[in-house]
Amino acid sequence: MPLPQQLRGRMPQAVRDNQALRALALGAGLIPPRPMHSAAEGELLRTLVRDTGARAVVEIGVYEGSSAVVLCDALQPGADLHLIDPFVDERGTSLNFGWRANPTATRLAVRRAASEIRVHWHVARSQEVGRSWQAGPVDLVFVDGDHSYAGCMEDWEVWHPHVRPGGAIAFHDALGPRGSEGPTRVVAELFRLREPWEWRLLAEVDRMVVVRREE
Ligand SMILES: C[S@@+](CC[C@H](N)C(=O)[O-])C[C@H]1O[C@@H](n2cnc3c(N)ncnc32)[C@H](O)[C@@H]1O
Repeated sequence: MPLPQQLRGRMPQAVRDNQALRALALGAGLIPPRPMHSAAEGELLRTLVRDTGARAVVEIGVYEGSSAVVLCDALQPGADLHLIDPFVDERGTSLNFGWRANPTATRLAVRRAASEIRVHWHVARSQEVGRSWQAGPVDLVFVDGDHSYAGCMEDWEVWHPHVRPGGAIAFHDALGPRGSEGPTRVVAELFRLREPWEWRLLAEVDRMVVVRREE
């Protein structure tokens, strides 16, 4: 049972950002995962799961699990959710300075949300997981890991062949003044500055851009 929001809101920022305290509280269910998407972006993820009839979803970059919890809630019982994160911000582009998730605490938070979903953990770089992927076609990939241009482009190159026709890829932090430079540039080069091709822009909400593979 999470602590009431009023009580959590009174905690000094230094306490809220303390990695060890966050891990203990998250693991014990006293706090929810730190929110990393807007309400509208969460709704878009739910809609994508529903509209693609998703049975196999990949999230790249899990952190404390805020989007993983949304995906667990949206997916049908028995669906597969692959969660990929090395829990190391190698290039320092994906998180605010000083933030770092604890893999055990995140697993516990996701497990509480995932009673009927098959969750597969990959504590590794998404690019390596994608290169050796054997789990079949994917309906939806949510790209929210390495936010550098090179890292995000590598995610695209490695993962888009695994998405089935009619499936989608959602890029976070790829839009607007609060977007990150890397994903924004990747999306511009692949989908705004070239002729229409097999992949088309499908939706743009807050900082999230979704592209769909033609059937
Ligand atoms: C912005 S956070 C993800 C937020 C999460 N999607 C959510 O909604 O709560 C970025 C995460 O990407 C992870 N990351 C960094 N490089 C990565 C890589 N090469 N592969 C997968 N994840 C990576 C970081 O460890 C961090 O936890």
